Order: sequence, then C-alpha cells, then structure tokens
Amino acid sequence: MGRRRGVSLSLPPSLLIVLFYFGAFSHVNGRINLTGPSPTPINRDLYHTSDGLMEQIKALVHRHPDKLSLEKFSGKNKGYHAEMTVVTYCRNRKQMHDKSKYRILLSFGQHGRELITSELALRILSILSKEKSLPNIDSLSLHDIFERLVIKVVPMENMNGRELVEAGDLCERRNGRGVDLNRNWSVDWGKKEKDYDPYEENPGIAPFSEPETQMMRKLCVTFEPHIWINVHSGMEALFMPYDHKNTTPDGLASYRMKLMLQRLNHLHCKDRCLVGSGGGSVGYLAHGTATDYMYDIARVPMAFTFEIYGDGTASAKDCFKMFNPVDLITFNRVLNDWSAAFIAMFNMSTHQLDELRSNTTNTTVSNLDKFVSIDDYLNGYLMERRSRYGKKMEVLDVGMQEIRTYFRLFLLSSVLLLLMFCSRISKSSRHIVSGHMAARCPCSYGICKTDEKTTLRDLPTVNYYYYYYSGY
Ligand SMILES: *[C@@H]1O[C@H](CO)[C@@H](O)[C@H](O)[C@H]1NC(C)=O
Ligand SMILES: *[C@@H]1O[C@H](CO)[C@@H](O)[C@H](O)[C@H]1NC(C)=O
Ligand SMILES: *[C@@H]1O[C@H](CO)[C@@H](O)[C@H](O)[C@H]1NC(C)=O
Ligand SMILES: *[C@@H]1O[C@H](CO)[C@@H](O)[C@H](O)[C@H]1NC(C)=O
Ligand SMILES: [Zn+2]
Repeated sequence: MGRRRGVSLSLPPSLLIVLFYFGAFSHVNGRINLTGPSPTPINRDLYHTSDGLMEQIKALVHRHPDKLSLEKFSGKNKGYHAEMTVVTYCRNRKQMHDKSKYRILLSFGQHGRELITSELALRILSILSKEKSLPNIDSLSLHDIFERLVIKVVPMENMNGRELVEAGDLCERRNGRGVDLNRNWSVDWGKKEKDYDPYEENPGIAPFSEPETQMMRKLCVTFEPHIWINVHSGMEALFMPYDHKNTTPDGLASYRMKLMLQRLNHLHCKDRCLVGSGGGSVGYLAHGTATDYMYDIARVPMAFTFEIYGDGTASAKDCFKMFNPVDLITFNRVLNDWSAAFIAMFNMSTHQLDELRSNTTNTTVSNLDKFVSIDDYLNGYLMERRSRYGKKMEVLDVGMQEIRTYFRLFLLSSVLLLLMFCSRISKSSRHIVSGHMAARCPCSYGICKTDEKTTLRDLPTVNYYYYYYSGY
C-alpha cells in the first residue's frame, strides 16, 4: 500500500539523457532550474535512526521484563540475509500461552521509506508498558483491555530497506535487494497491473522468496493471531481484504469488520480515512499482499492494513515528506491519534471476537473455527521437519502454493486409481464374493460400517488419511 504513482521513474532512458543534458546545461548557465525543489531530508530531531529505535525498544523491554519479551529471527536466501526483531507483550508474561487470550500481530515498517510507522510501534509499546499514557482514557479501562491480549509487535519488518532509505535513497520501499515485501506473499502472486512499476512493486522471483516474508509467515503460523494489522503510510486509510480484487469477502465476519472500521474512522480519523477493501478503495489492485494471505490462507479472522499518514501535496520525488510528517505538531498528532485508534481497535475487536466466538455454531462464521486444512497439515509437517533436522529446509523456498498444487494433484490421482481399482475388482470377482466386494467400494469414500463383513485393513490406509485432510 501507499504506492507512489510518480512519472519520473518510468521515463524512457533516451528522455532521461536529454533531461540530464538540459539539467547540466542550465546548471552551468544558471538560467533554468529543472531539478525542482530538492527533497526534504529525514528530520533527525523527530525520527530515531533505525539503530536508535531498536536500542530504545530493547531498553524498554529491559525495564519491563514482566510484560515484554524480545526475540530475534534471521533468515537467508541465496546470499541475501535479513534480521527481524519481535516484541511480545502480555500483561503477565507467565500467561503468554493462555489460549483464552486474543492474539494480535502487528507489523510496522514493511516499506523502508515509511519511517513514521516504526515510531508508532515504539509509542504503542510504551503505552502497553505504561510508560506513556493516552489522553482521555483512564488506566483502569486500559488494564481491562490489555488483560485479555497477547500482542506481538514487529517494529521494523524491513530493516535492510530502511537502511537504504537512511543512506539517502529516500524513495526506497522495497527490501535490501529490491523486492516489495507486500507483493511477495502467495495469494494472487505475481500478477501485474497495467501501471506496474518494478521500481515500486517488484514481487520477486516466486512467492516467499524473501527471508523477511518467510519469517513473517513463520511467525503467523506459530502464533496463530486473531487479529493482523499491517501498518503503512502514504495515505490515511483503514483497509480490510481484499487487495487483489475490488470486493470485500462475504459473510458476517466481514460485515462486522467493515462496521468496526467505519466506527474507527468516525471516532479516530475524523472521517478522513478511506474505508473498505484495499483493492476497491485505493485506486489500484495489489497482488501478493500480506493481508490477503493472512485472511485467505492463514485464516486470521480479522486482517487489516492501516495507512496512518500521507501528504498528497508532496512532489513524487519528495518521499520523506510524502510518507512521513515533517513537523513536530503533525508528528505528535499522528502518534497520539493512531495509538488511541489502535487501543480502541483492540477493544472493539475483542468484543467482536467474543460475539463471533459465542456464535460459532453459525456456519457463516467459518473463519473463526480453525479446522484441519491442508495448510495446517503441511505447516505442521514443515515445522516438524525443520526442528528435527535443525537446519533450514529448502522446501520452504518452493512456496506453499506450489506444494499445495502438487498435493491436490496427488490426491486426485490416488482417488482416480482407487476408483479404477474398485470397479475392476467388483466386475471381475462379482461371481465369487459379490456381497463383500460391493460393500468395499463405499469404503473408499470413508463411510465404511463396522457391521459389514469387510474390514478396513483390506483397503489402502492412504485413502482415509487423505480424505480427511482434503476438506479445505
Ligand atoms: C533549483 O531549485 C532548488 C529548490 O528550489 C534549489 O535548492 C537549487 O539550488 C536550485 N538550483 C539552481 C541551479 O538554481
Ligand atoms: C518474492 O520474491 C522472490 C524473489 O525475488 C520471488 O521469486 C517471488 O516470486 C516473490 N514472491 C511473491 C509472492 O511475491
Ligand atoms: C471498550 O469498549 C467498551 C464496550 O464497547 C466501552 O464501554 C469502553 O468504554 C471501551 N473502552 C475504551 C478504553 O475505549
Ligand atoms: C447466522 O448468522 C446470520 C447472520 O447474522 C443469521 O441471519 C442466521 O440466522 C444465523 N444462523 C443461525 C443458525 O444462528
Ligand atoms: Zn507501504
């Protein structure tokens, strides 16, 4: 999200050369100034350096060992290395694995140039640890909200990309090797719109090729969040699925999400925010985004993308100004407004989830019930393999989408083979044991009755096994 739509980078090379000559010429003569206003630099009075921010977060965790803990992950792919820090909040750390709590996963700084989002991460962690307070909210009601949650915060998902920004490439949104981390997920991956700009949106060579995306995916699979929020800047918006098409999902849960975002917009965004599906509201479709994956594949019941700030008047080259507040008053306003919005969101969504949970017999709310799907099965399998051999398995690089396709093909072919096998046997041996054989074929659909003379042992066990997992 927050994609820039400037023209400067899509000019043909010949035109760029002409422009360059013009620029050089006019510079020498001092007559025409084609370079335009120079881009706003990062305001170091307001913003931490990435190292400084991580130091602050480490110190905060150190001061509150009862509530906060910190984990570091690292990943590698073809010589490219990435690291990620994750902070976990639980009011009483001993209850971190308490299944009655709602689990929230928040990611900040997925795009390098959106520095304000990581500052918001620090602010939210400070509020959670009670070092900072929110105006107009008493600490007692905050206590009640926080009590019910376990929150994992990724303050800076794209550390390598952010380093490039801080080294002067203020418009960089991709990771350390030029892949857009919000286009590297598997839902509808790799599809390109007419206005596709590789500088902005390069999805990479395959889904999950990027270590950052792999680490986030692993975090999601192990943590199983109820709520996911992908925090960006570039505009003011509260988005829900889908990003890859211009509709929202069907069903009660989706309807509730939309109502909640509308309320949030009214209470905390002064009705300025765009609300709705990412694909339907932002003016372009985005393929391979994290939020669509979280909702569709990981089955996170509430998945959002929040866009917390944007300056539409900034020129296309002036990225720091376009994506981040540049003065103290706006900087503080954004952090205050959005930390309040996040707390309100935690509060509202836990109530929503309570209602959905008490309503689980209603089949329209299927996203909340985690049934055994091929995904869960494969995830469990991959995790197990990983820990058993204690090293990185290349199989993760293949991407879940492909594995799933092969798996389905395999299922289909084994079912076909079995049907052929059944029909042959029932034809050829009807005259010998017709009663028994007729009872066998229905067994292949998993509806054997024990009072039949046939035993389950006669049939290949693979049959039952795969039928069970092919529910998804
Ligand atoms: C061109 O304009 C920018 C901003 O307005 C200014 O900083 C720069 O010095 C100018 N360059 C020349 C050659 O006048
Ligand atoms: C992620 O990036 C990799 C490597 O650059 C690419 O091969 C892959 O297709 C990308 N995947 C997605 C889902 O964007
Ligand atoms: C949380 O939600 C409840 C019920 O909607 C409301 O009464 C309460 O004031 C909210 N608390 C905060 C801090 O917003
Ligand atoms: C399920 O929820 C829908 C939407 O609110 C409702 O119309 C329907 O009556 C519910 N069904 C049951 C069995 O509760
Ligand atoms: Zn972004």
